[in-house]
Amino acid sequence: MTITYKDEAGIAGMRVACRLASEVLDHLTPHIKPGITTREIDRLAAECMKAQGSISATLGYQPAGYPPYPASLCTSVNHVVCHGIPNDKPLKKGDIVNVDVTVIKDGWYGDTSRMFIVGEASIAAKRLCALTYEAMWHGIVQVKPGARLGDVGWAIQKFAESNGFSVVREFCGHGIGQVFHEEPQVLHYGKPGTGEELKPGMTFTIEPMINTGRREVRELGDGWTIVTKDHSLSAQWEHTVLVTPTGYEVLTLSAGSPPPPAFVKAEPALA
Ligand code: MF3
Ligand code: CO
Ligand code: CO
Repeated sequence: MTITYKDEAGIAGMRVACRLASEVLDHLTPHIKPGITTREIDRLAAECMKAQGSISATLGYQPAGYPPYPASLCTSVNHVVCHGIPNDKPLKKGDIVNVDVTVIKDGWYGDTSRMFIVGEASIAAKRLCALTYEAMWHGIVQVKPGARLGDVGWAIQKFAESNGFSVVREFCGHGIGQVFHEEPQVLHYGKPGTGEELKPGMTFTIEPMINTGRREVRELGDGWTIVTKDHSLSAQWEHTVLVTPTGYEVLTLSAGSPPPPAFVKAEPALA
């Protein structure tokens, strides 16, 4: 496996798939309230993808050593770090939930996730969600030709740890295109000036998982769900980005995407 560099046609395909993934999250947003089950969220997402003419990349997804993933998206509640499987337990006021959507459109993959606060959450939970969003953007703004993946990881790690949080090591961002998970691996920690050099046409995700407690994780018996070992809260946000000749373009944007944090000046690609 090698890194794939997308040409204009590939970039056009990625733009569409990524926008559709983000629009699935937009569609779900008003429904994520106390009392809804994650299974219902999954059903709404499946309906939305059908209407889009996209298909879920996660339903039946089976990397080597895993059972087939059984749902159209992932829902990771509170101390669940990632890959939570939708179930019949209603969400309750104060929960935080990551909803992670990956769609395929015309063979191209778009992958994005957001945190949702159910009703009203504690100050600590809100702070975790907000700072994890900022952490993702600290990584995104590093992206430009000539920068290295270690710059991205370091920016995220430095910001998260300076705020007293920890960064999950076992899961990372990834190249994406006509394959769900391709090279390179995008670690959310690292050293500046190290790692793969970024070049125009690369598309990859940045998707930090940040814990309020220790960074260690554990897999549940279902073969998918990842939780914090110490049961501390965990948050994650994810965008798919393109390396442009001058910087980056965030591909997984739509009408309902939260605005970038104030420290993000302008989208270099769009400026
Ligand atoms: N969307 C996840 C990611 O960001 C992967 C989910 S794989 C699944 O890479 F099978 F758990 F859905
Ligand atoms: Co991803
Ligand atoms: Co994802």
